[in-house]
Amino acid sequence: MKQIKIETVLQVFDSIDELPVNIKSLMKKAVEARSKAYAPYSKFNVGTALLLDNGEVVLGNNQENASYPSGLCAERTAIYYAGAQYPQARILKIVITATSTQKPTTSPIPPCGACRQAIAEYEIKQKEPIEIYFMGESGSVAMSKSLENLLPFVFDKSAL
Ligand code: THU
Repeated sequence: MKQIKIETVLQVFDSIDELPVNIKSLMKKAVEARSKAYAPYSKFNVGTALLLDNGEVVLGNNQENASYPSGLCAERTAIYYAGAQYPQARILKIVITATSTQKPTTSPIPPCGACRQAIAEYEIKQKEPIEIYFMGESGSVAMSKSLENLLPFVFDKSAL
């Protein structure tokens, strides 16, 4: 028997003001997208902005449904739109922010497991890491230089 130890590294910025200027601007776009989320059931609004290598910025937010599992997270709404509209483009950055009417979100809100799996598919396909920034409505911003850090031991096409 041997043990496998997996280490993961994240960067943490104290606030949005510490972010590089281009990321701050993407975060502002994500905040705007967040305000248009359709989340009447959870009242948890998530917004995201994707920067593609063709210069396009794709926005997304969560879209809920009375049949709860039929809804979709912000990240997958955006990433699938990007895949549908710009199939050749690589995704360089994903910036995410979440807010709730139920309680303050002052620490970084990471993408859910299903969204990590979806992002992994594109990172593996494009063979280039995707930088991911995530935060609540205020407070610090966490950053992962690659999806790999957020989903070690990923299930991918090599298993098929
Ligand atoms: N949600 C996202 O949009 N992204 C995530 O990564 C986590 C959760 C949404 C799904 C649902 O509409 C609401 O947040 C509460 O789970």
